[in-house]
Amino acid sequence: MNVLKNKIKAEGVVLSETVLKVDSFLNHQVDPELMMEIGKEFAHRFKEEGITKILTIESSGIAPGVMAALYLNVPLVFARKKKSLTLTEGVLTSKVYSFTKQEENTISISREYIQKNDRVLLIDDFLANGQAALGLIDLVKQAEAVVAGIGIVIEKSFQNGGKIVRDTGYRVESLAEIESLENGEVQFKEEEAT
Ligand code: G4P
Ligand code: NA
Ligand code: NA
Repeated sequence: MNVLKNKIKAEGVVLSETVLKVDSFLNHQVDPELMMEIGKEFAHRFKEEGITKILTIESSGIAPGVMAALYLNVPLVFARKKKSLTLTEGVLTSKVYSFTKQEENTISISREYIQKNDRVLLIDDFLANGQAALGLIDLVKQAEAVVAGIGIVIEKSFQNGGKIVRDTGYRVESLAEIESLENGEVQFKEEEAT
């Protein structure tokens, strides 16, 4: 997705060989027009999948997720990372270990919002080690719903999440795939020749 790649080139900050900072449009400040384009693109790619719900994780998945939900005309649910004061009954939980942050989070959703047989599109901002996506898949399975696909804004192809998540057999669509962050530069995966 060129508008996204151009934004990453213009505003992304390579913090190390593994971490890209995109606080100016995705992880802190949010660019609503870009999010709208991202939502449109996810909706386009998954329009034949009979999506009935979108599931993401707070906080950075919410902006792209809600825009995809808008264009697919379905609700967005975000899994919570912190215990909610009001979310007490009928809660589904899954443990997600972050290799990047070296911490474990318990993510949770209310049973009420993912129903049996819902066709759920998972959305997240980054795909790094794949653990967040696996946690979301687990929640959907517990709800006896169907994972209809996985949409990622930025995939770091040099980490193992892409393989782990694709090995589950679900369709994964990433809008920008980064091959390398070496030498302080963002190198995107070669586009397939057309
Ligand atoms: P994984 O889910 O693919 O296994 O990723 P990991 O645990 O390593 O990621 C933990 C957090 O770090 C996630 O955000 C993820 O989006 C973010 N992250 C991973 N790699 C990068 C990167 O290169 N750049 C940026 N900007 N973020 C990265 P989170 O803790 O859930 O935070 P939030 O932003 O959603 O609140
Ligand atoms: Na994030
Ligand atoms: Na995230």
